[in-house]
Amino acid sequence: MKGGTKTKFIGEAINRIDGILKVTGAANYSTDFAIKNIAYGFMIKSTAAAATIADIDTSDAEKAPGVIAVVSYKNAPKLAPAGNLKGGVVFQEPKVDFYGQHIAVVVAETFEQARFAARLVKVNYQKTDAVTDFVKNMDKAATPKQNRSSARGDFDAAFNSAEHKIDYTYETPIEHHHPMEPHATIAEWDGDKVTLYNASQGVGGAQNAVATVFGIKPENVRVVSPHVGGGFGAKGQTWPNTVIAAMAAKVANRPVKLAMTRQNMFTSVGLRQRDVQRMRIAATPDGKITAIGNDITTHSATTGEFVEGCGGLSGMMYDAANTKIGYRVLPMNVILPTFMRAPGESTGSFALESAMDEMAYELKMDPIEFRVKNISMVDPSNKRPFSSRATEAALRKGAEMFGWSKRKQEPRQNRSGDYLIGYGVAAGSYPSRQAPTSTIVKLTRNGSDVNASIELAASDIGTGTYTIVAQTAAETLGLPIEKIGVKLGDTTLPRAAGSGGSVGAASFCNSVSEACAKATSELQAKTNRQWFKEPSVAELMEAANLNEYQTQADAKQGPDAQKYSCHAFNANFAEVWVNASTGMVRVARHVAVTGAGRIMNAKTARSQIIGGCVWGIGMALTEESILDPRWGNFVTRTFADYHIPANLDVGTIDVAFISEEDKVVNTLGIKGIGEVGIVGVAAAIANAVFNATGKRVRDLPITPDKLV
Ligand code: MOS
Repeated sequence: MKGGTKTKFIGEAINRIDGILKVTGAANYSTDFAIKNIAYGFMIKSTAAAATIADIDTSDAEKAPGVIAVVSYKNAPKLAPAGNLKGGVVFQEPKVDFYGQHIAVVVAETFEQARFAARLVKVNYQKTDAVTDFVKNMDKAATPKQNRSSARGDFDAAFNSAEHKIDYTYETPIEHHHPMEPHATIAEWDGDKVTLYNASQGVGGAQNAVATVFGIKPENVRVVSPHVGGGFGAKGQTWPNTVIAAMAAKVANRPVKLAMTRQNMFTSVGLRQRDVQRMRIAATPDGKITAIGNDITTHSATTGEFVEGCGGLSGMMYDAANTKIGYRVLPMNVILPTFMRAPGESTGSFALESAMDEMAYELKMDPIEFRVKNISMVDPSNKRPFSSRATEAALRKGAEMFGWSKRKQEPRQNRSGDYLIGYGVAAGSYPSRQAPTSTIVKLTRNGSDVNASIELAASDIGTGTYTIVAQTAAETLGLPIEKIGVKLGDTTLPRAAGSGGSVGAASFCNSVSEACAKATSELQAKTNRQWFKEPSVAELMEAANLNEYQTQADAKQGPDAQKYSCHAFNANFAEVWVNASTGMVRVARHVAVTGAGRIMNAKTARSQIIGGCVWGIGMALTEESILDPRWGNFVTRTFADYHIPANLDVGTIDVAFISEEDKVVNTLGIKGIGEVGIVGVAAAIANAVFNATGKRVRDLPITPDKLV
């Protein structure tokens, strides 16, 4: 204890330091900034899947009340090629590549006036051939440009000669991200400088994308995003809506607010692609896996390629000597697919962990014992040792918490009235990475009272970044947490990793910790004396006679981590109750156990995992975006038909962490938890549905029609 204050903050279940701001509405999300003289934008979206626009008639819209401008390919500023902007540059040519593509924006004095006028715009399409039917065109899928195919040993020989094998195909549908806060931007120009209040998972990305297309210097683009209402991958990159806001503001010569509607979210900012995965597993009679094959067929967009890595887990989870993982992709007339929570691992784990359950059943083995028998502490895909791996610990602890011993190996053995009850398990993993991040620490002293401001261009997308940054700083500086202020989400702050791919906590906190340690040691040197007990920063500043001090440090992944395979691991357990007459499935209980290195905040970490489980329930049972091949549009376009789990759809969720001190992954031993929480959840539920009913559903979601 330093000076009688609490000094242990990392790992504690501390309430969010921004919690009061959020519940009182004082936290500014991107559209909450009060900008003077603001105008409102409303998108006009294509109603053809592939076309040339023969004409767009905006004359009635332009005469409508309050309308300031209508921007389309006819009058849009010329932009440079897309750079890292996703989904193509906007309004540059009269070409349509998917249904729902932005083709114009109306700017008006009010949102309602813009929306009303948008209806008056008449578009005349010359339709061209569109690829909108995935199943019909699957045979035209070809090797992707970014090819992640891999093989080891001789899969075909091992599979063909095996005594036990399974060969099944698993399907996952198109899904859409729906963060609480849909994408939104306020754009305000000042000469050739623009400020964007922009909802995203990283401010640097929008800065680069907008600078590139407008041909201005990145330092002339300021992106401000202090609070973000969820991202899930959809806000991981910059989509046309941000550029359209900047463009509309330029044409209207006014600050413009452009907020996506919930319906816009289905065609404005990426989606999770549909995956068809043929899984083959071969094993010896005593349960040693000899071969794993994963042949993935998916689609991308005609405007670009994005392929999630469904096969990643098939290569590294189990110690099979022979593997073959292949990808084929079909370009379709849909918006470019993108990252969605555990991109690749969530859908890949549904296929792999369902297939593992099928193989265990074939071998008459307990699915936990079957998995444990096939895990290795060396990553078979690259022969590097895992820095740490909690798969067995998570399976054992979860089994204990869940009451796995009561599970019957044969299906349909557990019944209560109208309900068939089943237990399922699945394991999972997600890579742990750290991206370069810089932090400034600013210390101010008033007598013996010291305050610290911790500043970095990180984003808190609702996960608790402000809080873990404050915890790290308080612990490293030896200050009470109330003395720590945190500034995030602004490109004027030091460059930081984006909040995606589970890199946030490791990247930010290691950088904050390094900057705070640097401040302490620099101050110590300035005092020019030897300290026999560790001094607080207050004592140091007093001794150095300083009222203000600031320093900055960069952190990136150390070389040691590259020699290892660094991943978070988990195990999920589900108990389902299936109504025997209606086929309705309810997840009555769910247990998630995660080994993710150091947990920075027990409370926000638990919330993260619960979020992953809830989404996994949606993925397993309800979520599906339905594309009508006749028009290429999504017929699911509100929450009335795109079903996400609500409170009554979610039973009890128990969360536990395996304590891990991983000295390899990064200095603080943080593996990240944002993505891994959803991995394996849908498979555990599907496996439980099989255990309950004896029916194996291999295409998600598991809707009642597939069970009765
Ligand atoms: Mo994550 S799918 O990169 O938000």
